[in-house]
Amino acid sequence: FISSQSFQEEELRDKTAVVVDVLRASSTMITALHNRAKGVIPVADMGDASKISQNLDSPHYLLCGEKDGVKIEGYDLGNSPLDYDGEKVEDKTIILNTTNGTKAIKRAGLADRVLIGSFLNLRTLITDLEKVETDIVLVCAGWKGRLALEDLLCAGNIIYELTDGILPHNVQDGAKVAFGLYEKFGDDIEQAVKTSNYAVRLKDLVSEEDIAYCCQRNKMQVLPVMKEGIISDFYGK
Ligand code: MLT
Repeated sequence: FISSQSFQEEELRDKTAVVVDVLRASSTMITALHNRAKGVIPVADMGDASKISQNLDSPHYLLCGEKDGVKIEGYDLGNSPLDYDGEKVEDKTIILNTTNGTKAIKRAGLADRVLIGSFLNLRTLITDLEKVETDIVLVCAGWKGRLALEDLLCAGNIIYELTDGILPHNVQDGAKVAFGLYEKFGDDIEQAVKTSNYAVRLKDLVSEEDIAYCCQRNKMQVLPVMKEGIISDFYGK
């Protein structure tokens, strides 16, 4: 089934949670791990970010993130996945602080297992989820408590793949809505996402290249898994 940010603790217990924040936290983490970052530490706010960074050896970490789409002053990187190339991130631990995505991940930490998903790693994610025996909760990060089309569309794509396009009856209403959205717009993800509230609201701050990049399917074989507050690639070296 599926849940937005307003999930209750017991909805996650003993479950596998997949946090989806297509624009852009999930896409950024997947890109960073693909480009051989050592790990990503998601934090809920700037206070947490500075506390954690004080205890780390500075050449080995980057302090990164955005607030309302804009890079936080003094941080090494913002939240554009296009900035997370190998030259910048290889072997680094990234402390990531974003408006919605990293907060949703922190809260999803109550689940038995926490994975990060986006269009970029869809196939790799599905291959893992097909083997999962627990219930799966797709946590759509959204924007400040509201639904975001791009996250719901990605959740719909995940559900569609997991069910071979035939929706079983025993899923939550949210999953049915996501599935239906994917059936309607799945043929042209980028076109649909361009009309999203995020793309329209942040059009002066977030480039069209970022949006197009985040809408690509199956580009990276990365499975971000969170263990003890650190996200790393299950398949990583
Ligand atoms: C979020 O957490 O909502 C995103 O990171 C926002 C963004 O990238 O602009």
